[in-house]
Amino acid sequence: MKNILLLGSGGRECALAWKLSQSPLCGNFYIAPGNAGTGEYGINLPISYNDFDSIKNVCLEYKIEIVIPGPEEPLVNGIYDFFKNDILLNHIIVVGPSMAGAVLEGSKAFSKKFMLRHNIPTAAYQEFNEESFERGIAFIKRTEPPYVIKADGLAAGKGVVITSNPFEAIKVFRAMIKDAQFGDAGKNVVIEQFLTGVELSVFVLTDGKNYVLLPEAKDYKRINEGDTGLNTGGMGAISPVPFADELFMQKVISTIIVPTINGLDKENIDYKGFIFFGLIKVGNEPYLIEYNCRLGDPETEVVIPRLENDLVKLIIKMWENRLNEVKIKINKKACSTVMMVSGGYPGDFEKGKEMCGFEKITGSMLFHAGTKNVEKTVLTNGGRVVAVTSYGEDLKQALAKCYENAAHIEFEGAYYRKDIGWEFL
Ligand code: AMP
Ligand code: GLY
Repeated sequence: MKNILLLGSGGRECALAWKLSQSPLCGNFYIAPGNAGTGEYGINLPISYNDFDSIKNVCLEYKIEIVIPGPEEPLVNGIYDFFKNDILLNHIIVVGPSMAGAVLEGSKAFSKKFMLRHNIPTAAYQEFNEESFERGIAFIKRTEPPYVIKADGLAAGKGVVITSNPFEAIKVFRAMIKDAQFGDAGKNVVIEQFLTGVELSVFVLTDGKNYVLLPEAKDYKRINEGDTGLNTGGMGAISPVPFADELFMQKVISTIIVPTINGLDKENIDYKGFIFFGLIKVGNEPYLIEYNCRLGDPETEVVIPRLENDLVKLIIKMWENRLNEVKIKINKKACSTVMMVSGGYPGDFEKGKEMCGFEKITGSMLFHAGTKNVEKTVLTNGGRVVAVTSYGEDLKQALAKCYENAAHIEFEGAYYRKDIGWEFL
C-alpha cells in the first residue's frame, strides 16, 4: 500500500482520484487542494499545488510515497527536481517530468526545436523576439493567412491566436513582444504554418525508455455549439475517436510517439510521467501541434474511465523502468463527458451557487471541477463546474446518458453544450 498525494482541483483530478482510490495498492489518499468531488475519494488538504514547501511538509507528515501533479504548473516550476534534490523527499515517486522535460510544454520554441531535431512532423515555423521584431512584421506581411501566433511560455491556454487578418496578426504580435501582454511568456513568439485538419489528443505514460499507450480522446474547446465562440478549458470529450483507426494510430506511434521517447532518452532528459500529444490529422497524416507534460482536462474524464489497469501499479512499474512488462487493457465501451459550466464562462462568472440534483444521477459518473463543500451543501467554485461522464455501447448511447443526467444537475446559470461528439453522430 502506498500513501498518495494528488495535486490539483479540476475534473481531471477528480477522475484520477476516482481511479486511484479503487486500487488495492492505494493507502491513505490526499488531494491538494481538491474539490467537493475529490473529497469523496480521499482527504482534501487546503494547500496550493504551487506551494512546494507546504507540499513537502504534507509529504513528511503523512508519509506520502507517491505524488501526482495534475496540472502543468508545478511540473514546469520544477516539482520533480525539488523532490529529487531533497534528501528527505527523494525516495518519493513523482509522476511527471523533470523541469528539463516539462519545457516541452513550458516553451513552444523549445518544443518546436525538439520536434525538428527528431524529425517529428509539425507545422513549419519561425521564432521571433524583441531583437527580430521587425523581421517578424515583415514575415507576417509576406506570409499567406491564416496566421498562427503563439507566445512561447505558459499563458493559461490564452497564448495562441489564430487570425486571417494581417493587421490583427501584427497587432497580436506587437502586443506579445512590445507590450509584454503575456509577461515573460510572450517575450519569444512562434509564428507557424496553419494546418487544416481534425484534432485529437493522444496520451502515453513513459518511464523514459518504454511507454504505454492510453486511450485517445477528442475534446471540444469552444463555448458554443457547432464549435463556435470563445475558447474554453474544454466543454466535453469523447473516447475512442472514430477517425483514429489502427493505421492512423500506427503512424502516430512510429512518426511521433517513438521519436519523442527516443529523443528524450538521447538528450538525457529525465522524464517519468504522462505525455499528452496534441495532434492534428491532415489528410491521412498525423502532425504534432503541441506537447503537454500532463494529462488533458476534460480528456482525462473519458481516458481514465476506459483504462482497466490498476493505475497505482502502472505508476510503480513506471518508477522501476519496467513499463515494457505492462499490457494495457482498454474498456471497449465508448465514453463521453459533458462539462457543465457557470453562466458567463469563459468570461466573468459568479461562484457560490448552490448545486442540487446529485441524488437523481443514475448510470453516469460526476467528476467535479469547480465545486466546494460548505457544510452539507455543494457550491459552484469555478468556471468549469462538473463533468458528467458516461459509458455506452457506442458514442451515441454514452452521450445520451450524459445528457439525461446533466439535466438533473441544477445551479443558477448552468450551461453546457448539447452537441458534444456532433460530427460523429
Ligand atoms: P496550442 O496551445 O499549441 O495547442 O494551440 C491551441 C489550439 O490552436 C490548438 O488546439 C489548435 O486548435 C490550434 N492550433 C495551434 N497550432 C495550429 C496550427 N499550426 N494550425 C492550425 N491550428 C492550430
Ligand atoms: N483539453 C486540453 C488541455 O488539457 O490542455
